[in-house]
This record gives sequence, structure tokens and C-alpha cells, in this order.
Amino acid sequence: MGKIVKGRILVTGGLGYIGSHTCVELIRSGYEVSIIDNLVNSERFILDRIEKITGEKIDFYEIDITDLTQTMICFNDKKFDLVIHFAALKSVNESIKFPDRYFKNNVGSVENILKCIKSEDVKGFVFSSSCTVYGQPDILPVTESSPFKKAESPYAETKQICEKIIKEFAIINKKPSISLRYFNPVGAHDSGLIGELPRGVPDNLVPFITQTAIGKREKLKVFGDDYSTKDGTPVRDYIHVVDLAEAHVSAVDRLMNEETNESYEFFNIGTGKGYSVLEVIKSFERVNKVQLPYDIVGRRQGDIESIYSDNKFSKQTLNWRASRDLDQMMKSAWIWEKKLKESGS
Ligand code: NAD
Ligand code: WQD
Repeated sequence: MGKIVKGRILVTGGLGYIGSHTCVELIRSGYEVSIIDNLVNSERFILDRIEKITGEKIDFYEIDITDLTQTMICFNDKKFDLVIHFAALKSVNESIKFPDRYFKNNVGSVENILKCIKSEDVKGFVFSSSCTVYGQPDILPVTESSPFKKAESPYAETKQICEKIIKEFAIINKKPSISLRYFNPVGAHDSGLIGELPRGVPDNLVPFITQTAIGKREKLKVFGDDYSTKDGTPVRDYIHVVDLAEAHVSAVDRLMNEETNESYEFFNIGTGKGYSVLEVIKSFERVNKVQLPYDIVGRRQGDIESIYSDNKFSKQTLNWRASRDLDQMMKSAWIWEKKLKESGS
């Protein structure tokens, strides 16, 4: 008996960190996948790795989505039931230096994809949003009804703008759409074949930890221990990238089964637990039996003290759970870093 295919999903940015893990989980759950990526922050070998993990051949379009003509060709080539849009530039620091680049790429690519969806028979749209839309929240944990406060960076502003554009598009065109607001995605696939591939010196904590542990960086700098938190270091809601990928499958199922209550829905995707920087370091050292050299230095400009999610709404409505704990996140991140070194990638 042939296998039952649940539908074909176009995954933009599918060779990136979260997109690649989501492609794997979509295929595992019975979907077919096509990918668009312009490789601005990813490598072609990730395609082979996704194919190796899943045993499936995947359509790949090397296209820059800010080019509408090229993007439309791809929509003429295949029929997609649904689109998940990961493609974006994601460095908060870089966005402060080059805001125009971020507005053009992140907002421009959403506008183009929505134009393509509008004229095609696509059932719905899933968007990669971020907890940065909440700015510096007044009340913790952050629920979905927390307001958008002042964006702390041009990157965060692109996410706020995109959510507003998508909401309007979904309501006017009756194309149900879901934004998933991720907290801090970390970790890697259990196979060690896919994971985060930072270009240059990583901004984010976990890739900096693993690169220090492997000897690529001399020492980790812990940015401040004078915050009003349990041990003085900032608190974040770290979520395993495979749990995050599974949340996308739940969102896709919800749209495919026409279960949405509103044209536009949005969900927090986090574990609901906050960990400090020192707790992350301790977990990494303990589970991997590695000593991590680090110094406490001054605060990083723009860092907020604490943020973590209230994920009750996403658990109930998406029928989804974040089941992997901080130790599993740290273990998988380390396996990925070691395998990356072995493969010389
Ligand atoms: P990533 O950089 O690993 O993946 C993004 C992918 O999109 C890359 O493969 C890149 O080459 C591609 N891309 C970018 N612009 C493109 C364009 N114009 N045309 C075609 N392809 C393009 O990033 P990620 O961590 O996987 O993040 C995916 C999404 O999730 C992004 O929208 C990001 O803003 C959002 N997000 C990420 C985090 C995080 O901490 N990683 C947190 C919240 C939200
Ligand atoms: C976490 C904690 C740092 C590096 C960013 C984006 C956000 C989202 C996720 C996209 C902070 C500390 C870090 C280091 C450190 N991405 N740290 N030494 O800042 O919470 O969020 O990534 O949407 O938009 O802003 O994540 O991993 O950079 O930092 O001490 O070398 O680790 O101060 O407290 P952040 P992060």
C-alpha cells in the first residue's frame, strides 16, 4: 500500500536552522516538502542532510524571495497546499548596523510571498515571528495578549510590521494564517546531522558556548551578573529546536484541517520556564562533562533582564507540548558542534 500524503508544504528558508528541522518533522508526519532558500545564511549540504535523515528527495529552488518574478515561477511550477515562511535575516546586532537591509529583506519577502499566495490555491500561511515583538514586557510570563511594546531593534520592528501585514492579508483575503512567536530556540537534531550554523562570531549564547568548548573561541563572556534575577544573570525561555519544529507541524495540521477559530491566530512557542545564563552554562558543563572557560563582563547593550512565555494557549489550542528539557538542549547542541568539526564543515 502506498503511503498517504497529507499535502505539499512550501518551506521558505528551509535550509536554515529552524527550517531544516521543521522540514524533517513535516516529512516524518506525512507531508511533502519543497524548499526555497537563497543560501544567504545556509549551506547547500544541509539539503543532503535533510534527505539523509528522512530518506526523501526534496525539491529545492535557489531563489531570493525579494525577487517577485522568480518567486512566482516557483508557484507556477508546483501546487502548494500551504506555506511556512522562515526566510529572513535574524541578527539583532546586524539589523542595528544595516536597518535598510533588514526592512527590505524581511518585510519585502513577506509582501512577495503573500502576493503569490493570494493568486494561488494555497490554504494558509505560517509565519516565523519572535518574542521580540513584545519588546521589554511589563508582566511575566508573557501571554499572547501582552501588547507590542517599542521594538528594541530594527529586526524586532520587522517582525511587528510583518505580523500586522499578515493579519490584514489573512482577514481581507480569507486565507487563514498563523504567527508563531518563538522564544530562544537552541539545540539540534538527535542525529547530529543538522543544527545551527552561525556565520562568523556567534551573537547568541548557545553557539558561543559550543564554539568555546570545542576550542574555536577562547572564552565565553557572560554579559552582566548584576540583574535582579535568581543569580544576577538574565533569564530566557530556551526551547529545543525539535520541539519548535513540532509546533510548526501542529500549526500546519490546524490549517490543513480547517480548525482555526480566527483568520489570524498567533501563539507563543516556548517552554514556559526561564533559565539564567549561569544555569545554561552549568547544564552544558554537567551533561557534557566539559569545563567551560568564561568571564563575567559588563552588560550587553539592549539586553532585557528576563523574558519567558506563558504557553498555556498554544498547548491547549495547538495540542502541542515542549517535551525536551534544558539538559537535552545542551547535549544535542554539543553533539552537533562535535560532528560539525569531524565533518570539517
Ligand atoms: P536562519 O538564518 O538559519 O534561516 C533563515 C533562512 O532563510 C536561511 O537559510 C537563509 O539563507 C534564508 N533566507 C533569508 N533571506 C532570504 C531570502 N530573501 N530569500 C530566500 N531565502 C532567504 O534563521 P533561523 O534561526 O532558522 O530563523 C528562521 C526564522 O525564525 C527567521 O524568520 C527568524 O527571524 C525567526 N526566528 C528565529 C529565532 C532564533 O533565535 N533563531 C528566534 C525567533 C524567530
Ligand atoms: C541570551 C542570553 C545574553 C551571548 C536573541 C534575539 C531574539 C531571538 C533570540 C530572533 C542573554 C547572554 C549571550 C554571549 C552572554 N532571535 N549572552 N554571552 O538576546 O535573548 O535573543 O536571540 O528572533 O530576537 O534578540 O539571545 O542567545 O543572544 O542571549 O552572556 O556571548 O545570553 O546577554 O542574556 P537573546 P542570546
